Amino acid sequence: MSIDQTTYAELGEIAGRYPQARSGLLPMLNLVQAAEGRITPEGIEACAEILGITAAEVSGVATFYTMYKRKPVGDYHVGVCTNTLCAVMGGDAIFERLKDHLDIGNDETTADGKVSLEHIECNAACDYAPVMTVNWEFMDNMTPQSATQLVDDLRSGVEVTSTRGPRICTWREAERVLAGFPDDLADEGPAAGHASLVGLGIARERGWTAPRPPELGSASGSDASKEAAVEQADTGRAESETKIDESGADTKHEDDK
Ligand code: FES
Repeated sequence: MSIDQTTYAELGEIAGRYPQARSGLLPMLNLVQAAEGRITPEGIEACAEILGITAAEVSGVATFYTMYKRKPVGDYHVGVCTNTLCAVMGGDAIFERLKDHLDIGNDETTADGKVSLEHIECNAACDYAPVMTVNWEFMDNMTPQSATQLVDDLRSGVEVTSTRGPRICTWREAERVLAGFPDDLADEGPAAGHASLVGLGIARERGWTAPRPPELGSASGSDASKEAAVEQADTGRAESETKIDESGADTKHEDDK
């Protein structure tokens, strides 16, 4: 069965957003997931046809990234970070508890189709470890107990809100947003949590400021003017780092690198 006309037209709309149409492949694949519930052969063919590339090329991209699914996931796709920091902070225990509680394994979906489970790699949210995601929205500082409560709420239709984001929508709805069709929930909920802002607070307390932005050349500026701008930025950064060192700040993390 081929992909429906509305989706085909929207795939073309996405391709049309980019100077090089094939740059739109990733959001096009998100839209295929929104419409089909997974990356289907029909979706791959449609993307290839619109972009004038081969199905093998589309398939190569779709199989490279783990966020593209070849089999259906649940309405709520639950990720548990089991990368190093989250793992030692409880991520491994959460993942084990959820596998038992849901009676499914990694990359599997509950019989009611509501929840699927995946162990995921570092989400660059280590300051909130152990971290989980639901349809790619963050759930911070989780415990085995709060994780089981979360999946129970999701399965029973209780409204759940991300700890740093909006109300949780379904996986297909989230995929449509990733395809570039907003649901107007982007500004709902907090965008940054306390842990992310601690550094900013310390910088303000100590009067630290960012380097002055360089006078960037115009887009059509010469290579020489761009090089000068880059040099100025490097100088500004070095001056700023010197100021930080002189202020007696703890720069241990720099030494550790
Ligand atoms: S290790 Fe889990 S978010 Fe970084």
